[in-house]
Amino acid sequence: MESVPSVIQVTPDLLRKYDRPGPRYTSYPTAVEFSTDYDAAAYFESLAQAAKRPSDPLSLYVHLPFCEHRCTFCGCNVVITRHREVEQKYLSYLHREIREVARRLQPRRKVVQYHWGGGTPTYLSLDEMRALQHVVTECFDIAPDAEAAIEVDPRVTSREQIDLLRAMGFNRLSMGVQDFDPEVQAIINRNQTEQQTRDLFEYSRRAGFGSINIDLIYGLPLQRAETFSNTLKSVIELRAERVAVYSYAHVPWLRTQQKGFDPAMLPSAEQKLELFCLARDAFLKAGYRPIGMDHFAVPEDELAKAVQTRTLSRNFMGYTVKSAPDMIGVGVSAIGDVAGAYAQNQKKLPRYYDAIDKGSLPIDRGYRLSADDQIRRFVITQLMCNFHLDKRAVEARYGIGFDQTFERELAELSAPDGLVENGFVTLGADALQVEPLGRLFVRNVAMVFDRYLANKKSDTPIFSRTV
Ligand SMILES: C[S@@+](CC[C@H](N)C(=O)[O-])C[C@H]1O[C@@H](n2cnc3c(N)ncnc32)[C@H](O)[C@@H]1O
Ligand code: SF4
Repeated sequence: MESVPSVIQVTPDLLRKYDRPGPRYTSYPTAVEFSTDYDAAAYFESLAQAAKRPSDPLSLYVHLPFCEHRCTFCGCNVVITRHREVEQKYLSYLHREIREVARRLQPRRKVVQYHWGGGTPTYLSLDEMRALQHVVTECFDIAPDAEAAIEVDPRVTSREQIDLLRAMGFNRLSMGVQDFDPEVQAIINRNQTEQQTRDLFEYSRRAGFGSINIDLIYGLPLQRAETFSNTLKSVIELRAERVAVYSYAHVPWLRTQQKGFDPAMLPSAEQKLELFCLARDAFLKAGYRPIGMDHFAVPEDELAKAVQTRTLSRNFMGYTVKSAPDMIGVGVSAIGDVAGAYAQNQKKLPRYYDAIDKGSLPIDRGYRLSADDQIRRFVITQLMCNFHLDKRAVEARYGIGFDQTFERELAELSAPDGLVENGFVTLGADALQVEPLGRLFVRNVAMVFDRYLANKKSDTPIFSRTV
């Protein structure tokens, strides 16, 4: 088994140099490149192509955007409302969208990765959850061994909902925690007691959920090493199979409520790195294995096994071993990845409704990947997931010469004071290896292979910072 040192020293100079805005690469090219040139007609074409491969499996993502209150740190596409009729209307349109997408995909129906995300999917009533699942299972066949996951907020999820989800075949839960410290919770407008989380966690276990993930965030306002250590201790006691430790994405130009955070309350890059290293150290000592740039999993978990065999993959739903060749996204703002093109739905409800009322699908924008994009996407996914790039595998898969195609990138990596000299990356004749230090900065390593970044001014506020 590969050994992973638990303590990694980063000098202040390296931190200053590499803490800069950069993508998280949930897609390549990133959503910034999506354009309205890719419209509903283009999406119909992508769906028609996908339909020609009826036995290929699908991933299906369903976006449920509603929350009762806004957590001020939140970077997701959410709709804050307590008016139930808003959600009832939304669900009736969502049903129509699912039926239309499924009709265009006929006879392709098999789903191996299924996810309800948000917002807060458990904002839905029991009847609404049943009705949505009814439409999905009428239109698609969820494979018996599918990964069926849902994001649950312990503050608003009832035991009845957990029982129903289990009965409907969901087998994975992802619980939002972020931080248990009351001071941090007050500033992020998210009051969630440890007991509340523990109760739901333990109930879910008894209900038969054998795979539970917990989300934490480091870099939130007022977070400190001492208090974050307490959060880590409590989370480790729960023994979730997976834990995500996300870097707080501070993007106030996109999420205006984040402007309310006094910059003096936000941890510096040094403090942020310290918080992450604290978490990393705590989970490794507790027997978890590191997964990609920000996840940890118990050794028996399939993600941990995939790390050993370098077969880990990643899509908009996160790290996975069940990624299908095409991913369908339904619901407002959802992003799909179908027949070599990304397709994003309208982000505002009126436009989303309008398109469906016109008998169309609510595509706002998208992007058809070129041959070069496909190669770079593979390279970046390998780096982000497996910290290793087998040059020969890239050559065999795409019929290119690696060193010739990536001459500029290899030169950049090897430049004086570059990623190789600084110990982030090792270049071998057959492979590129991201070293333990480079894993903390893997977004910076991936950025070298991003063709689009070179054309962007580095001070343009588009992406969150890499640390
Ligand atoms: C869409 S939320 C859904 C979970 C559910 N609504 C809840 O809050 O429990 C999924 C996760 O995204 C993460 N997240 C949201 N905003 C973020 C931000 N600005 N930076 C980093 N992670 C963020 C949080 O960890 C959250 O649990
Ligand atoms: S973190 Fe979860 S509950 Fe809070 S606003 Fe975002 S989606 Fe809603």
